[in-house]
Amino acid sequence: MAKDDHIAFETALSERAGAVEALLRRLLDARALPGEIDRPERLMAAMRHGVLNGGKRLRPFLVLESAALFSADGEAALRVAAALECIHCYSLIHDDLPAMDDDDLRRGQPTVHKAFDEAAAILAGDALLTFAFDIVADEATPLPAERRAALVLALARAAGLGGMAGGQMLDLDAARDLPDEAGIIRLQAMKTGALIRFACEAGTVVAGAPAPDRERLAEFGSAIGLAFQLADDLLDLTADATTMGKATGKDAAAGKATLVALHGPDWARRQLDGLVGQASALLEPYGEAAYLLKAAARFIAVRSS
Ligand code: IPE
Ligand code: IPE
Ligand code: MG
Ligand code: MG
Ligand code: MG
Repeated sequence: MAKDDHIAFETALSERAGAVEALLRRLLDARALPGEIDRPERLMAAMRHGVLNGGKRLRPFLVLESAALFSADGEAALRVAAALECIHCYSLIHDDLPAMDDDDLRRGQPTVHKAFDEAAAILAGDALLTFAFDIVADEATPLPAERRAALVLALARAAGLGGMAGGQMLDLDAARDLPDEAGIIRLQAMKTGALIRFACEAGTVVAGAPAPDRERLAEFGSAIGLAFQLADDLLDLTADATTMGKATGKDAAAGKATLVALHGPDWARRQLDGLVGQASALLEPYGEAAYLLKAAARFIAVRSS
């Protein structure tokens, strides 16, 4: 990636992160919405801890950039981006629980079950998952009802049984019964790829873009989703906890089934290059307009945290 593109990407990422955080802050305030009875203070605090604690906000960036590529409504895209980040943060809160990866540090801070307690962390995750669908379905998302419904459906498919949650189940089961390469790729496409794929296709749904564009962006999302987990697994092996804001060296210690464990770090770096090339090629039809999405693909592969 040219240095200028990289700087433009970093600037855009931080600007987009600021916008999505401001919205998340507004959405997670004390005021109960119509139909809600009350917002318990400790649950809200646990949710805010798990959401407003930094994070790269890469998934929201992908939603916003894919939306911009198709000239989608900016406010609608921002709400979809915030909804997706709520689901991502819920997945991290639950992923860190003692019954799952048992981690104490996330985004450089104590995990939600450490800062609060396990029950609060479980419920914060539950409430964030539900809240995501609230945000998309709400009339405050300025889209025709069918588009909101299509987004709710796609998000549910990406997050649930056949997507992220299903992938997390396979990931945990893999500790007992080591999957082969195809099995690892499938579980990673589910646990991590599905939400990233949704992020990339969401903009086309918000914009009402034609089906071939939606498919192309979804395919781009699948490629960078795979790259994302490959990079995460590589960083687990090579980076330190201070840089990452979370414990590292855990996958090897747990004998976790990853492509890095199977093929080694050099293969992983070559594979990452290949995936970025493949992903960028998918965006060729959009020319210069897609340069930030291409820069995001490169960032995913070479990131250091
Ligand atoms: C971490 O995701 C979890 C994985 C899917 C590997 P990120 O690396 O995007 O975490 P944050 O949101 O920046 O903290
Ligand atoms: C997590 O994968 C994927 C999720 C759905 C949260 P990891 O367990 O490798 O993520 P980290 O390394 O804890 O962020
Ligand atoms: Mg995990
Ligand atoms: Mg984990
Ligand atoms: Mg990891």
